[in-house]
Amino acid sequence: MRPLRSSVLCRLLPAPFSLVLRSLVLVLLCTTPRCQAVQAENVTVLEGGTAQISCRLQNYDGSIVVIQNPRRQTLFFNGTRALKDDRFQMVLFTPRLVRITLTNVSVLDEGGYFCQLYTDSTHHQVATLSVSVPPETPTVEVKQEAVEGGEVELTCMSPRSKPAATLRWIRNGREIPGVVSQQDNAKTFSVSSTIRIPVERKDNGAALSCEAFHPALSGQKRIRHYRLDVYFAPTVRIVPPSGILREGDSLSLTCSVTGNPLPRNIQWSKINDTLPERAEISGPTFQISRLSQSHNGTYLCQAQNNFGRAADHYTLLVYDNVSVTTTVPPTPTTQTLLTPSFAPDPRDPGAVVETHSAVPYAVIGGVLALLVFTVICVLIVTIWCSVRQKGSYLTHEASGLDEHGEVQEAFLNGNDASQGKKEYLL
Ligand SMILES: *[C@@H]1O[C@H](CO)[C@@H](O)[C@H](O)[C@H]1NC(C)=O
Ligand SMILES: *[C@@H]1O[C@H](CO)[C@@H](O)[C@H](O)[C@H]1NC(C)=O
Ligand SMILES: *[C@@H]1O[C@H](CO)[C@@H](O)[C@H](O)[C@H]1NC(C)=O
Ligand SMILES: *[C@@H]1O[C@H](CO)[C@@H](O)[C@H](O)[C@H]1NC(C)=O
Ligand SMILES: *[C@@H]1O[C@H](CO)[C@@H](O)[C@H](O)[C@H]1NC(C)=O
Ligand SMILES: *[C@@H]1O[C@H](CO)[C@@H](O)[C@H](O)[C@H]1NC(C)=O
Repeated sequence: MRPLRSSVLCRLLPAPFSLVLRSLVLVLLCTTPRCQAVQAENVTVLEGGTAQISCRLQNYDGSIVVIQNPRRQTLFFNGTRALKDDRFQMVLFTPRLVRITLTNVSVLDEGGYFCQLYTDSTHHQVATLSVSVPPETPTVEVKQEAVEGGEVELTCMSPRSKPAATLRWIRNGREIPGVVSQQDNAKTFSVSSTIRIPVERKDNGAALSCEAFHPALSGQKRIRHYRLDVYFAPTVRIVPPSGILREGDSLSLTCSVTGNPLPRNIQWSKINDTLPERAEISGPTFQISRLSQSHNGTYLCQAQNNFGRAADHYTLLVYDNVSVTTTVPPTPTTQTLLTPSFAPDPRDPGAVVETHSAVPYAVIGGVLALLVFTVICVLIVTIWCSVRQKGSYLTHEASGLDEHGEVQEAFLNGNDASQGKKEYLL
């Protein structure tokens, strides 16, 4: 029988032949019409996807085709379902091609699927099904919280992938090498990469990312972004009001606080004293609506979190409001001069400015002009007298001396007056 002979020939091909030789012989033999053969293709499919398992037939002569799963359970017996698993479907059965599909593939479906021809000489081929599990976006776990001056330990985890995913830590476009560990969970892998980096206050909010690479992602990557949360002790600064404060003014202080976590409570206090009754406190702002000198003192703003505490102080000095009803612009007033009892505080710039007004100079100038005018008049009179009366020289000399003495006295008086004024200035 010719079919039998060719089948036997096919079967006789021994395993030790090199693959090339074997396929050569196979091709040669199977060009004869009666040599049956089956070929199977390896398949790789994503988990949850649909796998196509195909068995190519050559010279099919109506023999029974059997397809078995990796456990050698028969799935289909010449087109008839044998195993009760609806995920398997026979989609094609032609003399050249038998094809089944497997939906919702899981890693447990992996293995060799047998395409087998039941003839006198039994042929079979194995289609290896590989299931690929791409990683989910990795997760980041903080093993040790980040406190300024310390180190933070971050672990990037990809709990399930097949083959194992590759993880990379990136900061500012640069890779931070991590300690990689890989665990084999039956069919899949869990991968982690741990980094330890020193952290300072300035690193708070810094961006890092962990990237997962996998062959099934076809060049793409799954990225987890992470922002560093660096804990640090608070800083406190009181923003002082500008300019000087006088009685009746209102005071508004703002306490600017940093810290991570941001201190929730801001405490205001007055050193060696209780806070004024009229003080209004609302979180970081402290206000006194109408200042009086009893409010003089040192005020403290304090804040704390779990990592430390900080304080800043402000010393309040409330100045007299004398003569300054409307402080801007400082108009010259004689009131300042005429109140000798008022001694301007040297630390009070407002008061000093007012004593430097033009008023005292005008007064002194006027007095001096008057004196000069008087002297000139006296001289004119003297010359006129000497021209008209050419009498006794001695008499006239005496009278001239008298007049001259009066002038000197006037000068002295004038000097006294100006010195007296100057006293107010000093
Ligand atoms: C199919 O996969 C198996 C197992 O991985 C391998 O030994 C075989 O060479 C593969 N066959 C082809 C045609 O790639
Ligand atoms: C097996 O199935 C094929 C296709 O349906 C059919 O042609 C062939 O006769 C069957 N073989 C046997 C032995 O039943
Ligand atoms: C796919 O299989 C998984 C278990 O492998 C199952 O939990 C899931 O419900 C299945 N999905 C569908 C659509 O059948
Ligand atoms: C000046 O202070 C006194 C009390 O010290 C107050 O009664 C008066 O109203 C204040 N004047 C102004 C203009 O604030
Ligand atoms: C508070 O009182 C103490 C003791 O009386 C004193 O030494 C200290 O200088 C005072 N502080 C202020 C800001 O007045
Ligand atoms: C408050 O401070 C001002 C400016 O130093 C000073 O002139 C005044 O006497 C002080 N008042 C009191 C009550 O301490």
